[in-house]
Amino acid sequence: MRFLFVSVVSLLALGTLSNALNIRDGSDQGVENSGSTQTGDDGGGAANGDSSRDMTNDNGIEDNVQGNHNGDPQNGSNGHSHNDDDDSGIKRICPHLATQDKGCVRYTRGFDVTGVVSEVDLTFPEVASKCDCIQACLDRPGTCANYVWKFSTADAVESGHRTCTLYSDFNLPGNVSIQFDLGSANNKNINAAGITSKEANPDDGGPVPQAFKDLDSLVPDHDAVSGPVWVLANGKVQC
Ligand SMILES: *[C@@H]1O[C@H](CO)[C@@H](O)[C@H](O)[C@H]1NC(C)=O
Ligand SMILES: *[C@@H]1O[C@H](CO)[C@@H](O)[C@H](O)[C@H]1NC(C)=O
Repeated sequence: MRFLFVSVVSLLALGTLSNALNIRDGSDQGVENSGSTQTGDDGGGAANGDSSRDMTNDNGIEDNVQGNHNGDPQNGSNGHSHNDDDDSGIKRICPHLATQDKGCVRYTRGFDVTGVVSEVDLTFPEVASKCDCIQACLDRPGTCANYVWKFSTADAVESGHRTCTLYSDFNLPGNVSIQFDLGSANNKNINAAGITSKEANPDDGGPVPQAFKDLDSLVPDHDAVSGPVWVLANGKVQC
């Protein structure tokens, strides 16, 4: 969560995150809502023959995250139209990744949900795509819990290659701040030097920052991606 770019509130992004968390609470398989066919107006996943969908989502996340913004993902008959895939981008990405859902279905486009702790900075060509970035997080199960793929530096903007930054926590909501005891011997792998150098202590909460393509924060970067990578106690990974 670099503070280079000014942020704008996105209720949609916040809603996406909270819905994703609710889903996780409700069922780690999401089997209570299996597949997108229940929501008649969402484009219906593979059932509608839309090849832009990667494949049928077997845990129903598309419905839950994107379906009815009234919070009732089970109601497929409300007649609301919503541009699921294109607005918030919650279709499966990176289907080749070795995760529970064969790729990631929990993420946000255009915003940066990451937090400040244990920052790892990766750049092109080591990381050349959002999928490389997520894989880099998967490669660090002991320290990475979320990632952001965006233009985070002047070099990135200049070169046209987004950066990949890995963290172990999320952006905090607006009325929460955490002051790190950077000198504590109990800290492990928090990258205290990085926190200090970025003046990110205390870590002040706020709206989830928007990602931009330029240093002046004028051109929104809808292809920026950030999200969680949850290593579950059963050994599976959700993202
Ligand atoms: C589903 O949505 C429709 C239209 O908004 C509404 O009339 C109906 O009561 C809803 N059904 C449930 C179970 O909430
Ligand atoms: C933070 O708390 C203040 C005081 O209770 C409240 O007025 C404000 O709306 C809160 N801000 C957010 C972002 O919730």
